[in-house]
Amino acid sequence: MRPSTSDIGAPDLEALPAELPLRSATPTSWAELAAANLDLFLADHAVCEQQAALFGLSLVGHYPDDDELVERMSALAAEEVSHLRRVHALLRRRGHTIARRRGNPWVQGLRGRVEKAQEDLLKIDRLFVGALIEARSCERFTTLLGQIHTSEPEVARLLQDLGPAEKRHWQMFYELAERETDGETLQRRWHGWLDFEAELSAKGGVEPTVHG
Ligand SMILES: [Fe+2]
Ligand SMILES: [Fe+2]
Repeated sequence: MRPSTSDIGAPDLEALPAELPLRSATPTSWAELAAANLDLFLADHAVCEQQAALFGLSLVGHYPDDDELVERMSALAAEEVSHLRRVHALLRRRGHTIARRRGNPWVQGLRGRVEKAQEDLLKIDRLFVGALIEARSCERFTTLLGQIHTSEPEVARLLQDLGPAEKRHWQMFYELAERETDGETLQRRWHGWLDFEAELSAKGGVEPTVHG
């Protein structure tokens, strides 16, 4: 049964952004921009899901002897592919296709900070990049959901389902990083990443893309 629009939207997800580790909130002006360019947002969203699956599999390639990572990242990649299929089906119903590969300055900024000198930090940093991408995506989906939950019920249902999935995903990346070092080192590095991400995000909010 198709739920009425009153069943859809922000209320049960209101607490979600507060549960995220992020140090800054996306401005409402970004949600207004994405809502006004929803097909562009969705076309970019599909690319993000494809990239998320590839990122999970790339970690399997980097760390094939880490059984827990291989298992959890393979499962994540499969889930991201299911998200990709769902966004693609929605795009097709709306008469659109997946966006072409494009530059994503926010993700490129994160990747550019990854420590390449030390193997132990490299693994932690790669996992933290995954955690931040998932956490910010979750925050963006929830922010946009608040904007469109009555006007675009089908897109709202998608975001309502994917927001909690991305929350689960950032926690998964963080838990994998937690195994790699002592608590103090982990926290110091994580806080540095959170500050860096907040600075990167402050430059955004001006494109109707997921991380724009
Ligand atoms: Fe996803
Ligand atoms: Fe995800």
